[in-house]
Parts: sequence; structure tokens; C-alpha cells
Amino acid sequence: MKFIICLIITVVFATEPEESLDAAESIEYNLYPAEKHYVQTPDGYINQIQRIPFGRDNRPIQGCNSKRPIMFLQHGLFASSYEFLMNLPSQSPAYVFADAGFDVWLGNVRGTEYGRNHTTLKTNDRRFWNFTFYDHAHSDLVSQIEYVLEKTGQESLFYVGHSQGTTVMFARLAEAEPAWQKKIRAFFGLGPSAGSVKATASFLLLEIEDIQRLIQFVLDGKFGIIPITIPHPLIDRLAEACGNAEINHICSAALDIGGGREKLSQLNDTRLPVILKHFPSTTSTLNLLHWVQTFKYHELRHLDLGPERNLEAYGQKEAPRLNISNIEAPTYLFFSHDDIITDDVDVREIILKHMGPGLRNYTNLDHFTHIDFAVGLRANDEVYRPIIQTIREDIQKNGC
Ligand SMILES: *[C@@H]1O[C@H](CO)[C@@H](O)[C@H](O)[C@H]1NC(C)=O
Ligand SMILES: *[C@@H]1O[C@H](CO)[C@@H](O)[C@H](O)[C@H]1NC(C)=O
Ligand SMILES: *[C@@H]1O[C@H](CO)[C@@H](O)[C@H](O)[C@H]1NC(C)=O
Ligand SMILES: *[C@@H]1O[C@H](CO)[C@@H](O)[C@H](O)[C@H]1NC(C)=O
Ligand SMILES: *[C@@H]1O[C@H](CO)[C@@H](O)[C@H](O)[C@H]1NC(C)=O
Repeated sequence: MKFIICLIITVVFATEPEESLDAAESIEYNLYPAEKHYVQTPDGYINQIQRIPFGRDNRPIQGCNSKRPIMFLQHGLFASSYEFLMNLPSQSPAYVFADAGFDVWLGNVRGTEYGRNHTTLKTNDRRFWNFTFYDHAHSDLVSQIEYVLEKTGQESLFYVGHSQGTTVMFARLAEAEPAWQKKIRAFFGLGPSAGSVKATASFLLLEIEDIQRLIQFVLDGKFGIIPITIPHPLIDRLAEACGNAEINHICSAALDIGGGREKLSQLNDTRLPVILKHFPSTTSTLNLLHWVQTFKYHELRHLDLGPERNLEAYGQKEAPRLNISNIEAPTYLFFSHDDIITDDVDVREIILKHMGPGLRNYTNLDHFTHIDFAVGLRANDEVYRPIIQTIREDIQKNGC
């Protein structure tokens, strides 16, 4: 009885206003200027990206009086740009960078709630969901970066990616010419992922032949037309339940396990309803299968379509490698042993060992789970502030 009354009270009183707001609305709710932009890709997807053109006290970055440096944030798998807005302004990366003096842009990829519009395809068309992170890299990401540079009249930008937001930049820079590499003045990768040394997650126990068979089904349009997500009524119920002080530590533990090993949780339990309302977002079946391949192959490649289709698409029987040693843009990585999605061993063996001169520095953090990079309460001090400091030094040395 006590529990039920408590639950009712919680549902009525303990909601956080941002639960029902989208990204731009939340930015305004927090009294920051918000802009929505729609960026069309060459293959017809129209993604909404958001901008916070300046912070609350309109402060410039020292040494940058005539322009405001751009900070472009790209979200991870099953997330959207909202992941950078989840906490209080003093803790959420989008606001922290805006207040530090950046012109902040929040990217979104196709398939998320901000990426379900297309010039000709409807979302109930299987062709709409025929994409993987390679398309995010070479279509969504490139279009958005070019758009932002054109809008602001600048030649380069600073980029922070989280999780798949790092993967898409690895994939892009692996194939980019030197002129394009220069558009990325620095690339900061949080929880960077380009494969895994060992298969821990249960879906990775699928045999490679089964995965290849599934991929053929999807390519033939027999399977995988609907987006992959968790049904919303379930999430709503979960968000309500997790607003209850008596049980939200369970939700917190579940999220930690979902995003990393439970340890020294950095989550603000009060924010759980907000987090759960905006996470997880959706993606395509084919993208998940590309991810499974990436983990199995222990490296980044184009989607392996099977020998016949590979020959047709790539002119060779094997899916081509995306060689990260080609990366020239200055790259700084932040990772942690306690991030079970991509731990320190994965980062060292798969990324650090293969990166060339682009790699400038890396930080192995104590006790960060995969989602802590975006929503952890220590992320400001241990990740965002050091990034700002690195950029300030770069600007002092090389000009704005
Ligand atoms: C999709 O994009 C077009 C072109 O920008 C726009 O006119 C239309 O309103 C958008 N539809 C939705 C549902 O956002
Ligand atoms: C998906 O795209 C691939 C090539 O990019 C094509 O071969 C395949 O037929 C497409 N499948 C569907 C269902 O649109
Ligand atoms: C957690 O979030 C609530 C409001 O959503 C806020 O009042 C509180 O200060 C936050 N706690 C911490 C430790 O940041
Ligand atoms: C990646 O590229 C580097 C040179 O940029 C080359 O030395 C290396 O052999 C390539 N690795 C693979 C696996 O192709
Ligand atoms: C590299 O990062 C570490 C933190 O992990 C920092 O202490 C060090 O100063 C950085 N080095 C350079 C050259 O920026």
C-alpha cells in the first residue's frame, strides 16, 4: 500500500520538466538560445540538427575575438543529440561547451527521432532502413559538417564524438583526403569504438554464417524493415517507475549494466526519468548487423555483403578495410577499463596500435561506464574541462 501511494505521488509530483521536451525545447527551457537546422544528405535523408550559438553570458574564448570556434557533438548508437543535454547545464556537455565560448552544434543521424524524414521514402518503406554506420559516416556526418562550416563561414571545427559518434569519424577520416582532414581541427573521441578484442555480449555468440545469412535477408528486403527500438509504452512505464525514489537505484544499476559495469555510479538518480524518456533511440537492423561484424572482425570494414554482393559493390570479394592509420586530424581519446562496451584493452589493441600520426594523446579514466561519458557527474571535470583546456592551448599557440 505504502508503495502504491508512493508511486502515485511520484508520478504526479516527481516528473522533471524535460521529460516531455525535445532537444531544442530543452535548450530553451534551460534559457539558452536554440536553433533547429535541417540538413539533407545526397541520398535524400533530412536530419534535424540543433545549435546553441552561444552560452548564457555570451563569453568569448580568449584569443578568438572575431569568431566563435565551433564545437560539433555527435551522439552514439541508440542515442540522439539529446544525450548531450540530459543533466543540469553545468554538467551537460552541450551547455558546458556553449558557456565556455563555443558555437555548439548537435548532430543527428538517420533513423533517430530527429532523422526520420526523407525526400521520397516513408519510414514504413524497407528502403528507408537500408543503412549502417558507414552511411552515417559518409552521408549524414559529411553533410552536417559541410553545412555547419558553410553556415558559419569557418574552415574547420572541433569535434566530440561519443561511442558510435567516434566510429563514424574513424570511418570518415580513414577514407578522407588531406583537404577534408583539415576540416577537423581536433577530434575528441569518448568511449571510442572500432571493434572489440573479445566477444562478450550474447548476440556476439551468433556464428558469422548466421549473421551473413541475416544480412542477405535484410538486403533482399525480407527482414529488418522496422526500426530497432524498445516499445515506447514500456519505456514510459519504466520512466515513471524509475522516478520513484525507492526503486530508482535498481533502474540506475540496470542502466549501468546496460552501458557498462556497475561501479561507483556517476548517474544522478533524479534525472533517470529524463534519461529514459530520451534513450534508447532507434536504428536499423542492418546497422546492428554491421556492428556485430565489426566486433567479430576486430576492426573497421565496410559492411560485408557476402562474396557475390561484395564483388558487385566494392569490386572485391572481401569487404574493404577502413584503415584508421590514415587519420591525420589531431585525435584525443578518452576511455576506461570499466566501460564494457569498449574497454581499455579494445582501445589499445584495436585503435591505439593502429593509429598513425593523427593520435595526439589519450586518457585512461578510472571508473567510467559507457554512458558516463555523456551523463556521468564526473565527466565535466575529467573529460569536458580537459578538452576545453586542450583547445585553449591550441588556440593560444596556433591562433583562433
Ligand atoms: C521533411 O522535410 C521537408 C523538407 O525540409 C519539410 O518540408 C517537411 O515538413 C519535413 N517533414 C517532417 C515530418 O518533418
Ligand atoms: C539495400 O542497398 C543495397 C546496396 O546499397 C542493395 O543491394 C539492396 O538491394 C538494398 N535493399 C533494399 C531492401 O532496399
Ligand atoms: C540531480 O538532478 C536534480 C534535478 O533534476 C538536481 O536538483 C540535483 O542537484 C542533481 N544532483 C546532482 C548531484 O547534480
Ligand atoms: C594501413 O595503411 C598504412 C599506411 O597508411 C599501411 O602501412 C598499412 O599496411 C595499412 N594496413 C592495412 C591493414 O591495410
Ligand atoms: C596527455 O594527457 C594527459 C592526461 O591523461 C595529460 O596529463 C598530459 O598533459 C597530456 N599531454 C599532452 C602533451 O597534452
